[in-house]
Amino acid sequence: MKAVYVGIVLSVFVGVTVSGYAGGPSLKELNVSQPERDVLSGRVIFSTTCVRCHGIDGKGQGQMKFTPPVADLTSSAIQGKLDARLFKSVHDGKQNTAMGAWREAFTDDEIWDVLAYVRTLVPQQNDGMGSGLR
Ligand code: HEC
Repeated sequence: MKAVYVGIVLSVFVGVTVSGYAGGPSLKELNVSQPERDVLSGRVIFSTTCVRCHGIDGKGQGQMKFTPPVADLTSSAIQGKLDARLFKSVHDGKQNTAMGAWREAFTDDEIWDVLAYVRTLVPQQNDGMGSGLR
């Protein structure tokens, strides 16, 4: 127990030290979702690959219909999900739905780019949602 406590205190201390230090690791070096993704490259992926089900506007009105239906990517139900959740859905697919796994087709970077594009699909009145990954 005591060791855990010391560990937590230590990592908080190190965390504060690193983030307070201007020469610390940049966001790009961290393996997490990053706000600066290549939205244009994501748009190309979306409009060549995802469009046939999700439609060009992401509302799920592509040419193909499925049960369960294609998710409306502009909806708050989808936009309200965290990046990591959406990443997993695209990476691993969703079981028993038409949403397949894309991990073979795209690199992790490409999936983040396409998600950054998905974040731009949200209607403007949606309170600033859709302004990048989160
Ligand atoms: C063959 C049709 C099809 C294609 C192609 C497709 N999707 Fe989907 N997608 C679906 C369906 C159906 C769902 C709804 C799954 C469900 O019911 O949870 C979905 C759901 C999603 C969701 C919501 C996941 C969640 O956690 O609820 C995201 C994000 C998504 N798709 C992104 C993409 C991206 C990005 C691509 C292109 C790389 C893509 N999809 C290609 C059919 C497709």
